[in-house]
Amino acid sequence: MKSGVKRLLGRAGFDIVPSTNNLGGVDDFIPFEATMRAARASGLSVGDHIDEVMNGTPGATQHTIDELRDLGVFAANPDTVLEIGPGSGRYLEKTLKECSPDRYEIYETAAPWANYLVDTFGVVAQPTAGCSLAPTPDGTIDLVQAHKVFNTVTFLCASRYFFEMARVTRPGGRIVFDVMTETCLDPAAVRTWATQGGAGHDSYPAAMPRRTCVDLFATLGCTLEASFLAPMGVASTEVLVFGKGA
Ligand SMILES: C[S@@+](CC[C@H](N)C(=O)[O-])C[C@H]1O[C@@H](n2cnc3c(N)ncnc32)[C@H](O)[C@@H]1O
Repeated sequence: MKSGVKRLLGRAGFDIVPSTNNLGGVDDFIPFEATMRAARASGLSVGDHIDEVMNGTPGATQHTIDELRDLGVFAANPDTVLEIGPGSGRYLEKTLKECSPDRYEIYETAAPWANYLVDTFGVVAQPTAGCSLAPTPDGTIDLVQAHKVFNTVTFLCASRYFFEMARVTRPGGRIVFDVMTETCLDPAAVRTWATQGGAGHDSYPAAMPRRTCVDLFATLGCTLEASFLAPMGVASTEVLVFGKGA
């Protein structure tokens, strides 16, 4: 089926089959049609519906955006933004309220969500295969971000994306992502995950040592500028903000 026809059927209320190149079962976290229907019924934007109703963390997305604004991430007026795994676009939509990039690239394995974001926000969906940003040239992106992605994929997938994120960021640009670091995993949090974290979902929730990120990015010319906690599931992730040396 041609993708345009598929999109129209989707809008008319037909279910769209999730993407088949699902690397860890995580595409199914937020199924397109059901989420859109539920958001419409609740009268909320899809992002606010996910925050408030699905995740039980009202304002969580805006909190992260507010922190990034306070850190000056948007004041740099990024012309080019790249986001990995935008899903419903809840961070994408709020990012576009903070800055007006000429080009916003997304890498998203769930085709229905990628199509929706292209139609709604005019972003560019890049071919997404494995954990590569190969279609994006070196040093061309002012702001590279990923939210609630690296706690859902395997260690290797996240690590491969880290190298790619550093490669595509221009000198002076920023890299922002969250990971479930040891900062988020004190014994009480581990107990909460173990007892109240649900059935788990393949690679979710995946941990990533903070020092691994800081040391790795340092070898790639990127310095940790700031970090803060953001709610995730029954506990939290840590948002890391790196600057690439000019
Ligand atoms: C838990 S969701 C988070 C979505 C969105 N960032 C948010 O916070 O609402 C993880 C997203 O990553 C996407 N994803 C999974 N594996 C991916 C990969 N290898 N490359 C790009 N996106 C991927 C999924 O389809 C999904 O949209």
